[in-house]
Amino acid sequence: MGLSDRKKDHVRLTIDDRSAYSYDAGFSAYRFRHNALPELDIDEIDTTATLLNRAFSFPLFISSMTGGYSGAARVNEIIARVCEQENIPFGVGSQRAILDDSSAATTFSIARKTAPGAFIAGNIGGAQLIGGLSHEKLSLLIDSISANAIIVHLNPLQELMQPEGDRNFRGIFDGIAKLVEDSPVPVLVKETGAGINAEVAQKLLSVGVQVIDIAGAGGTSWARVENLRSDDSRKYAAFDNWGLPTVDCLVELHALGIAKNKIIASGGIRSPLDVVKALCLGAGFAAIAQPVIQTVIKDGEQGLVELVRTWKNSIRYAMLLLGAARLDSLSAGHLVKLYP
Ligand SMILES: Cc1cc2nc3c(=O)[nH]c(=O)nc-3n(C[C@H](O)[C@H](O)[C@H](O)COP(=O)(O)O)c2cc1C
Repeated sequence: MGLSDRKKDHVRLTIDDRSAYSYDAGFSAYRFRHNALPELDIDEIDTTATLLNRAFSFPLFISSMTGGYSGAARVNEIIARVCEQENIPFGVGSQRAILDDSSAATTFSIARKTAPGAFIAGNIGGAQLIGGLSHEKLSLLIDSISANAIIVHLNPLQELMQPEGDRNFRGIFDGIAKLVEDSPVPVLVKETGAGINAEVAQKLLSVGVQVIDIAGAGGTSWARVENLRSDDSRKYAAFDNWGLPTVDCLVELHALGIAKNKIIASGGIRSPLDVVKALCLGAGFAAIAQPVIQTVIKDGEQGLVELVRTWKNSIRYAMLLLGAARLDSLSAGHLVKLYP
């Protein structure tokens, strides 16, 4: 199966509830410490969030998803327009297709054409960096969308589950270190739903990666997605729930002292209150994929505008109910852990 058919299949399967982990990302283990006397006016609540020195209207990143086949252009166009209008950042899906065939670039470049002022991140797999990415290839990725940043995705679980996936993961770290040296824009690293533990995060930050997007377990299970695509979906079903839940990753990274502005929490963020809990637990930003693609496919652009506005407002309401006028005052003290 070709790369573009695979990307099309991914959209079809990730909007199917069967592609979710059978446990949540860990947010249900926490309740908020409601403040009945907040002494705040809702108009004072400031949801402004900073990522890579740029201010956004609230801390929600639309995760890397698609590109490389004709239907993807429409999805990227919708996401781009909404993100520019609502002033939130987003990433396009893996741009690997451009490296093989430069005509695939239009399904990504539509994002920049639609949203000239938006923050748009490019995306490439760690495996594509083994041995180093040439300057020419790096320019293709960045120039196709005038990228503000480049995201490297790590996905060994997903690759192993794909019959046609990569099997060699040696050399990815050196490839990332070289990319950091060569790239004119900041480099971020994300998983795709199995999580980034504290040691891996620290190693990546030590070579100049600027932000880690946890992309932990509890949301979209890429083992399940790939198993659903396979002829024998039960063969590697033992891995369907493999991964470190998002909250476990967050707690590990926070305990190691990794600063909030270096952490994006994602993987199984399914409500604006999950965003607030993630910020209390040490993230500076949160990101979502599945809720966005599901909304775009079902309810189109207007549906996505509504989702984004409702999440922003809900975060404001939650901040008021916690007595927090600014995001940087959110802390673990605003939560109660239900069980150890
Ligand atoms: C349809 C779809 C396509 C995706 N494609 C990519 C991709 O090309 N590159 C990438 O880094 N992550 C990709 N992801 C993973 C997401 O960016 C995200 O890390 C993961 O789905 C976990 O977030 P969620 O639980 O909110 O879905 C994709 C996710 C979805 C739903």
